Amino acid sequence: MGEVWNKVYKSDNAFFGQDASNFALLCLNHMKMNNVRRIWELGAGHVRDTTLFASNGIEVEAVDYSIVAIQILDKITKEKRLPITPRIFDVRRALPFPDSYFDAVYSHMLLNMRFSLDELHFLFSEIRRVLKRKGFNFFSVRNYNDKSYGEGVQIDKGIYDINGFQVRFFTEKEMQDLMEGFEILWMGEENEESVICILYSARKWE
Ligand SMILES: C[S@@+](CC[C@H](N)C(=O)[O-])C[C@H]1O[C@@H](n2cnc3c(N)ncnc32)[C@H](O)[C@@H]1O
Repeated sequence: MGEVWNKVYKSDNAFFGQDASNFALLCLNHMKMNNVRRIWELGAGHVRDTTLFASNGIEVEAVDYSIVAIQILDKITKEKRLPITPRIFDVRRALPFPDSYFDAVYSHMLLNMRFSLDELHFLFSEIRRVLKRKGFNFFSVRNYNDKSYGEGVQIDKGIYDINGFQVRFFTEKEMQDLMEGFEILWMGEENEESVICILYSARKWE
């Protein structure tokens, strides 16, 4: 599982850079203002954002299906004694947490991996389930306006293989459908090197 990402992190354990993303900084502000205490991070990667949240006193359950990512996370958690629980986990499975457990769920550049729409709908229903009432769902995706859209080889509807990375580009309708049960608080754009991410901050209705 996660072989492509194992290879990436083995060759560079700071593939996305050492510093936290701007998206994480924005979300951290939001979390602090809203007294967020416990979050679940999906597709944590080499933990640039995980450590930002945890070093600000937020308890993070961090998952990734790449064993190399989780080994990096485990090492940093122990060295820095941060409140992070790392776990190897494939987010296509049912989430191992009770209902209404988290104040927020965070994922950066995970949802545009190669997931089917059915898998994404299942994941969003699970996110709704584990979030507390009015809990936050912070995430980023790539969309049809992306300058890389249409590059590489199409392998499924909306999904392209670009240099070995399989990427979904979302339509507005697909996002609207996924967001059922969430209220969008703000949206923005973020340049992640060559990639433009559409950022979402949303809140569970009930
Ligand atoms: C584009 S990277 C982003 C990493 C991190 N969020 C960041 O921004 O630095 C996507 C991450 O999602 C993980 N991933 C992909 N599919 C997954 C799945 N089905 N379950 C869990 N993690 C997954 C990959 O291993 C990789 O670490």
